Amino acid sequence: MCEEQKGFTVWFTGLPCSGKSAVADRVAEILRAHHLKVERLDGDVVRQSLCRDLGFSREDRNENIRRVTFVAKLLTRNGVAVLTSFISPYREMREQARREIGDFIEVYVKCPLEVCMQRDVKGMYQKAIRGEIKEFTGISDPYEEPLNPELVLETDRETLEESARRVIEYLKKSGYLGHHIKIQDQA
Ligand code: ADX
Repeated sequence: MCEEQKGFTVWFTGLPCSGKSAVADRVAEILRAHHLKVERLDGDVVRQSLCRDLGFSREDRNENIRRVTFVAKLLTRNGVAVLTSFISPYREMREQARREIGDFIEVYVKCPLEVCMQRDVKGMYQKAIRGEIKEFTGISDPYEEPLNPELVLETDRETLEESARRVIEYLKKSGYLGHHIKIQDQA
């Protein structure tokens, strides 16, 4: 017997280099291994396609999140497990996403700014400090921390595997995933 999959959106938010994409990718991998329908919506990818006309002003970031919310809502109501990874720095927009999507799990990927700056995967923090990138989140643009997220992941204190496991456990506890979902060790 195959139970019908209930759709939901796990909304990862946090500073650049906090680990949003890495955790979302690992959760996606686990869910796919269980043959669930999964979609990933990632800032870097979406900004090369659906939102390629947008920059990083407050207005453009809000428009980015508004479009992504629309897509996530359609997927969620069609039974897909949606995993989004956007800085989504403004509380107001995250709350709007929550209201529209309904089955919405906000995950704050929390990592101290100093650690994100050390990771600096794409060298963008350095460029922002030198003034070569304007309106860079954490340096010259705000990030509003979530006040009541469903889950907080501390990626400077837990491993990627632990963070992914905590997301899966939360989804099980809240009834979005069946208890048969197990986390296989990575090959
Ligand atoms: S959001 O604020 O609108 O949610 P989003 O997550 O889509 O941002 O995009 C963030 C990505 O854009 C970062 O991973 C980084 O690679 C790139 N980026 C380029 N310029 C900026 C900037 N000024 N602030 C933040 N991220 C930037």
